[in-house]
Amino acid sequence: MSKSAEAALQQLFAAAKAAQANAYAPYSRFHVGAALRSESGAVHSGCNVENAAYPQGACAEASAISAMALAGDRRIAEILVIGDGEALCTPCGGCRQRIREFAAPTTPIHIAGQEGVRASFTLAELLPESFGPEHLSV
Ligand code: THU
Repeated sequence: MSKSAEAALQQLFAAAKAAQANAYAPYSRFHVGAALRSESGAVHSGCNVENAAYPQGACAEASAISAMALAGDRRIAEILVIGDGEALCTPCGGCRQRIREFAAPTTPIHIAGQEGVRASFTLAELLPESFGPEHLSV
């Protein structure tokens, strides 16, 4: 990885970690942060926000995508998710589809723990043969 790509990844890691610190997860106690770089170069982040009515909770990735849309950006160049524990905090199925709406099959999805990035996948690896906006001809 080039020095500038490494610096860009570190910036995403720091943003996701800061977002994770603000997670509202009193029910699962599983705090998640996400940060994405849009094609404009801006970084948008989000955390999970749970709810006493459990299904109303929002994942960190969904929150970061909402922040991106609010800022007027529409394309994800790279996204990083940070969670605690031993297992890789890969996006849930619903969030893979949410990312799909605004990303390319080759878009990197990095999974991190407190110590740094643990694994990187492309969107196509996590969501193969997916359905997206092109299928609706919009
Ligand atoms: N969660 C996320 O925010 N992102 C993920 O990638 C996995 C799971 C949240 C949802 C819920 O608030 C908590 O983690 C436990 O599932």
